[in-house]
Amino acid sequence: MTGTPGAAELAELAAAVAAEAAELLASRHGRVRVVQTKSSPTDVVTEMDEAAEQLIRRRILAARPGDAILGEEGGQTGAGASVRWIVDPLDGTVNYLYGLPQWSVSIAAEVAGRVVAGVVNAPMQRSVFTATLGGGAWQQSDWLASPQRLACNDGVPLADALVATGFGYAASRRAVQGEVVAALLPQVRDIRRAGSAAVDLCSLASGQVDAYYERGLHDWDLAAGGLIAREAGARVGGLRGEPAGTTMALAAAPGLFAELHDLLVSLAADRPDGAGD
Ligand code: IPD
Repeated sequence: MTGTPGAAELAELAAAVAAEAAELLASRHGRVRVVQTKSSPTDVVTEMDEAAEQLIRRRILAARPGDAILGEEGGQTGAGASVRWIVDPLDGTVNYLYGLPQWSVSIAAEVAGRVVAGVVNAPMQRSVFTATLGGGAWQQSDWLASPQRLACNDGVPLADALVATGFGYAASRRAVQGEVVAALLPQVRDIRRAGSAAVDLCSLASGQVDAYYERGLHDWDLAAGGLIAREAGARVGGLRGEPAGTTMALAAAPGLFAELHDLLVSLAADRPDGAGD
C-alpha cells in the first residue's frame, strides 16, 4: 500500500493489526510484570504495553513504510507523512494487570490532521468497534451474526443519565475529580468507572452508557474511540467550544452533551489542579 489511501483501507489495516496485538495481550492477561511507572507510582507500564506497541509499529510500517506513528509508549516517530497513526497499545493497563476484562487496543489513522479511521479491539469483551469518517460506527462481537451499526442513546435527560468517567493518575488531579464527581452523582442516574477511556467511548457509542467525560486524556486514549462515538451520533468536545482534549473530553448525544457541559462548567471541572496536562 502506498500513497494516501482511503479510510476503509486504513481501517482494515488498523483492524488486522489491533487483532494481532489483542491476541498477544490476551495470552498474558493478568499474568504480567510492571516494568516502569510514569506520571505517578500507580501509572504503570507493563512489559506487555511495550511488546504490543512494538508489534503494532512493526506491522503498520511493514504495510505502509514512512507513515508517522504516535504511540503511548514510544512517542512520535516519522514526520511529514500523509498518514499518522495514533496508538494506545493497551488502554486500561491497570485492569489488564489485575485480570479485569475492560481493556483494549486502540488504533486510529489520521490524514491531514483529521482522524478518518478508528478501531478499538476489546478481546475480553469479545468485541471489536470500528469507524470510518462518514461511514458510521460498527460493532462486531462473538454473539452477533454480522457487524451491527451503532447509535448512541438519544433524548436522555441528565437526571436519567448513566455517566461514565475516569480519573487521572496524579493525586492532586484525583482530588479535584473526586469533588466534581461527588457533586455530579446526586444529579444523574449513576456513575460508571470502567478503566479504559477507549472502552468508555465505545460503550457510549453502543448505548451501554449515556454520556462520558474525563479530564486528562491524551490523543491515544481519545482518537479511535472519539471517532467511533461521533460516528454513532454523539457530540464529542471539550468545554466552552474547545475540541475534546487533555483539559476535558465530553461525549454524549447533543442534548445531553449540552446539559452535562453546563454542569461541568458550573462545577469548574477544569480548574487548576496542579497536575500539569
Ligand atoms: C487510562 C485509561 C483510564 C483513564 C486514564 C487513562 P492507560 O489509560 O484510559 O480509563 O481513566 O485517564 O490514562 O493508562 O490504561 O493507557
